[in-house]
Amino acid sequence: MGRIFEVRKATMFKRFDRMAKQFTRIGKEIVIAVKAGGPNPDDNPALRRCYQNARSAGMPKDRVEAAIKRAMGKDTSNYEEILFLTKPNDLLTHWEGERLNKEKAFFISGIKTVYWLEQIDDIIKKIMQNVKILYLNKNEHYRAKVETETREKRFNNWIKKEYASKDLKGSNSILQKLRSVKDPIEIELIQKACDITEKGFRRVLNFVKPGVWEYEIEAEFSHEFLRNRSKKFAYSPIIASGKNSTILHYIENNNQCLDGDVLLLDVGAEYANYSSDMTRTIPVSGKFSKRQKSIYNSVLHVKNEATKLLKPGVIWKDHYNEVGKIMSSELLKLGLLSKSDIQNQTKENPAFKKYFTHGVSHNLGLDTHDYGDLSYPITKNMVFTVEPGIYLPKENFGIR
Ligand code: GLY
Ligand code: MN
Repeated sequence: MGRIFEVRKATMFKRFDRMAKQFTRIGKEIVIAVKAGGPNPDDNPALRRCYQNARSAGMPKDRVEAAIKRAMGKDTSNYEEILFLTKPNDLLTHWEGERLNKEKAFFISGIKTVYWLEQIDDIIKKIMQNVKILYLNKNEHYRAKVETETREKRFNNWIKKEYASKDLKGSNSILQKLRSVKDPIEIELIQKACDITEKGFRRVLNFVKPGVWEYEIEAEFSHEFLRNRSKKFAYSPIIASGKNSTILHYIENNNQCLDGDVLLLDVGAEYANYSSDMTRTIPVSGKFSKRQKSIYNSVLHVKNEATKLLKPGVIWKDHYNEVGKIMSSELLKLGLLSKSDIQNQTKENPAFKKYFTHGVSHNLGLDTHDYGDLSYPITKNMVFTVEPGIYLPKENFGIR
């Protein structure tokens, strides 16, 4: 069994075990229906990777159609999992290669009960006879802007209509909590994605010089990622030279890098469905100007302090506010803010927001902006980015 398969299997098993435990702790008989291939929860145009549920993380994404998990009573080991797959046929095999058969699906997922998708209505009907509470999955990602009716939505509507007498609940808040705390295997995969990203950055350091084009740098990342078995970027890469570095999600990557410019690189590789997310700003010529360097050093200081402050027990919003104070003191030192700017600031609109215009950290995992209930204190094994920045459009550069 290849390493990737082992990893997929481990990831799937653990997440669904934990999900079953969580639900059975509620102590009620339930069924969860999860449709794969849902919308991108993280619906940011610059960030397109998506996994609505842990189930699709474990399998080749387009090969799993649906999954049902049924927990019975308080006994955490007493649950049933069912997987639904598209039935292979000669035409599909000719166009797309071999599809998963039931044996292979079991081998990868460990799920014993596998049906073809065309059987789903009948199976659901049978299961529903004994079900009181039904948890349905829904895209509740904080960045989602879903404008079309998705397959998942249609499925949920169908369930609501057909099984209106059941006690219908949402599974999303439970999934959010589960997804924010990573299993060791997931941390290993995120680390691997980060290691590949680091290789990309090191390659680019040797490549950048005045005259190169941003898309050529993108190609260097792509090359390094692919040769390390990362299939793709975790999100559209931001390769922003000169003034472009002041545009937070600049993804055109079609300008020439000039002597004297900074180059802001916000790029991450994906590995085994897990994202990485790294940002560094470098001088195109190999040497920052005095001004660029002083801003760089301030951002670096804030980043290092923000990393130290991000620990178990801390609430995400409080972390942002604390980092804001450190940023304010740097902006004062740099002469970008005055004492009166600080005196006149309000809680809702702190002065540092003039130059530091986004958040400090977000969850990282199956999505680049991963699920996670940010109102709860941070716990061990959560994974966050740390990415403060200072943007000076009037001076034609930004550092993150
Ligand atoms: N690193 C890109 C973003 O978080 O939007
Ligand atoms: Mn990020």
